[in-house]
Amino acid sequence: MSGSCTIGKMSPWSRQIGIFILAAVALVLSMVGNTARAADKELSKEDRACLSCHDKEGLSKPLENGDTLALQISTAGFVESMHLGTSCEDCHSDLDAKTHGKVKHSIKSKREFSLSMRESCRTCHKKRFTEYEDSVHAALIKEGSTKAPLCSDCHNPHTVRSVKIEQPIEQTPCARCHKDIFNAYSVDVHGKERIAKGASAPLCANCHQAHAVKAASLGDSVKNACLVCHKNTFEMHSDWLPNTALHFEAISCPACHAPNAQRRVNLRLYDGTLKRQVSEKMGVPQFDRLTDAADTHDMGLDERALWSLLKEFNHEANNGRTVLRGRLEVRSGLEAHQLSEKSKALKDCNVCHKQGAAPFQSVTLTIAGSDGRPLHHGVQKDVLNSLTSMESVSGFYAIGSTRIKLLDTLLVLVLLGAISVPLGHMAITRIFRGLREKLEAERAAAAIQSTSQNSAGAMSPHDDASK
Ligand code: HEC
Ligand code: HEC
Ligand code: HEC
Ligand code: HEC
Ligand code: HEC
Ligand code: HEC
Ligand code: HEC
Ligand code: HEC
Ligand code: HEC
Repeated sequence: MSGSCTIGKMSPWSRQIGIFILAAVALVLSMVGNTARAADKELSKEDRACLSCHDKEGLSKPLENGDTLALQISTAGFVESMHLGTSCEDCHSDLDAKTHGKVKHSIKSKREFSLSMRESCRTCHKKRFTEYEDSVHAALIKEGSTKAPLCSDCHNPHTVRSVKIEQPIEQTPCARCHKDIFNAYSVDVHGKERIAKGASAPLCANCHQAHAVKAASLGDSVKNACLVCHKNTFEMHSDWLPNTALHFEAISCPACHAPNAQRRVNLRLYDGTLKRQVSEKMGVPQFDRLTDAADTHDMGLDERALWSLLKEFNHEANNGRTVLRGRLEVRSGLEAHQLSEKSKALKDCNVCHKQGAAPFQSVTLTIAGSDGRPLHHGVQKDVLNSLTSMESVSGFYAIGSTRIKLLDTLLVLVLLGAISVPLGHMAITRIFRGLREKLEAERAAAAIQSTSQNSAGAMSPHDDASK
């Protein structure tokens, strides 16, 4: 099976000369033509020595965990790859030429081997490496994940082709590990467009980035990615959606654009001082501890529990600025990838703005985990409507609460107005102008009240519109 070949023994001198001659030959050949055959000869003597053993079918090695590491490297594949100009030893610098291939040494698992090779990309691809190190995937690996990707999980170093060569979408490396999401994506409006028309429509990395992948619900990077391609989105929506900025702040794009999705209200712990979501420090899990303690019967947090939890976070974070920010979103990550044509998007105000509206029947509280991914805990839906919670949390203000109720009567008028479009539109504008003033006054009053009591701190999407 293995060990039948021997590494050619050479003095460093003859090696140098060898490299020189080969380089000269390569130069000549590259002037003659750039066929694969010529490229084959461009391989250095050293690389060819490696391949003389390694391009043997079936060459493999058993690993401690019982798996087998295939050791065959295809010469043709390497020659065609973007790494043709890189020599084996640039990346495999730690091999001992004297003993290699003769003395067996043990490797625990494929993963352990991959990890031992991970640094090899850094020297030549610094920028990508740095971006990657800041990703959710790298954070997962730091936490001990054996499933999150290293460079070599997304790029085979021996066969890597130019990323400019367009591949069928299922070749995108993300598909291998996020299969369900890929399957949903591949038949949604973008997947279909991508298959039909190519790169103008987004693939995973266009919305999430390839290297600096962040937890999807953290910050606005995914939303901003939508706006890069859909430039006049804001104007398009403001034609019919009053207070577009507020709606965009309070509702995730898929919540309206995945028409069959289930929706929920997500109350996110938010640091009003740092202006970003609260995240747990690595190794200091407090969210689960606190929520479990506050919800011993696992019924979902009630308003009192929510209130004291908020106090606790303000105490622990010690800045008194931890607040809750509501967002209406789809219930599962899968549903975020079931976007549909615009004609199917949610336009009916009543789906949200009526008593007992479905999206407000499911409520969750989240914090960003140390890798950025959200940790959830259920909240009783009454919290949104409860006046006591409004008072007890001193201006804590959740979407879907009293303000939504206030809208109900007005929406009847809106719907009547909609019978005649131009008239309806005027009516809507007038109604909402009046409403806005009313709400503005209400908010100002609440703000005064909350600064005088000054405990949990108030937060509404408006306070944060500058973000
Ligand atoms: C004489 C044949 C031979 C040559 C030449 C050779 N290898 Fe190997 N290589 C082997 C064998 C046999 C193994 C399996 C060793 C084992 O089972 O422990 C191996 C294993 C490996 C492994 C797996 C990890 C490890 O350390 O076991 C890598 C990577 C590798 N070789 C790279 C190279 C590179 C790069 C070169 C050229 C510099 C090279 N090899 C030259 C025979 C060879
Ligand atoms: C650009 C860097 C790079 C170059 C160039 C390179 N390798 Fe590798 N090689 C790696 C990495 C990284 C791994 C680990 C792959 C993984 O995680 O599965 C690896 C793995 C291997 C393995 C183990 C089998 C496998 O696929 O995991 C062998 C054998 C090997 N390389 C041989 C070679 C030979 C021979 C050459 C030259 C023809 C070469 N490599 C060139 C980076 C490189
Ligand atoms: C989760 C999968 C994934 C991981 C991990 C990953 N890449 Fe990439 N990489 C991609 C994808 C997808 C592209 C395609 C280009 C794009 O859309 O940005 C790409 C493109 C590239 C490119 C060429 C284009 C460019 O933007 O420069 C290089 C070089 C590269 N990656 C190197 C690396 C290195 C080095 C690492 C490890 C630090 C790494 N990649 C880790 C998925 C990944
Ligand atoms: C010794 C330098 C060197 C090392 C080490 C190296 N690469 Fe490269 N890599 C290159 C060069 C040179 C290119 C060709 C770049 C070009 O022409 O744009 C390249 C191209 C690539 C591309 C395709 C870029 C594109 O434009 O499509 C990817 C992906 C890539 N490398 C990934 C890796 C990964 C993963 C590793 C680590 C396993 C690695 N490289 C290690 C030098 C290196
Ligand atoms: C059109 C943009 C877009 C594309 C293309 C896209 N995603 Fe997403 N992805 C999103 C949005 C939006 C979310 C939800 C973000 C949020 O909660 O605000 C998301 C969420 C996710 C999540 C988190 C899921 C969870 O359980 O919360 C993962 C993982 C993910 N996407 C992977 C992928 C993969 C893999 C692909 C390619 C098959 C892909 N995405 C393609 C926009 C996109
Ligand atoms: C080798 C497997 C692997 C590959 C390849 C991979 N991922 Fe992941 N990814 C994971 C694992 C494991 C997690 C953590 C579990 C989870 O959240 O699904 C994760 C998490 C994520 C998350 C965070 C989920 C959240 O809750 O927000 C996003 C976003 C993501 N991946 C996007 C991508 C994108 C985009 C690509 C391709 C460029 C990709 N992944 C390729 C394994 C992979
Ligand atoms: C309140 C629900 C809602 C929200 C939130 C929403 N949309 Fe829409 N969007 C719609 C509806 C309904 C249409 C169709 C309007 C029409 O055809 O009159 C639409 C149309 C679109 C269109 C097609 C525009 C055109 O006319 O060509 C795009 C692109 C789009 N939305 C992207 C987004 C993005 C990106 C976000 C998040 C920043 C978003 N939408 C948030 C409901 C929403
Ligand atoms: C790489 C560019 C790109 C990104 C990023 C992108 N889209 Fe698209 N989107 C397209 C293209 C191209 C189409 C199909 C052509 C069209 O209808 O505009 C499309 C279609 C749509 C449609 C259907 C429009 C219609 O006319 O029926 C909606 C809705 C939409 N995108 C929403 C989003 C949302 C939400 C995001 C972010 C989560 C997003 N897009 C990210 C390029 C993009
Ligand atoms: C997907 C659910 C959803 C849809 C559809 C929706 N809204 Fe809203 N709307 C919300 C949420 C959530 C808020 C934020 C509530 C808050 O901040 O109190 C909001 C806020 C508002 C406000 C209050 C603005 C302010 O200044 O406080 C008005 C007015 C409004 N919506 C009107 C409409 C109209 C008219 C439609 C239909 C054209 C509509 N909404 C469609 C969910 C929705």
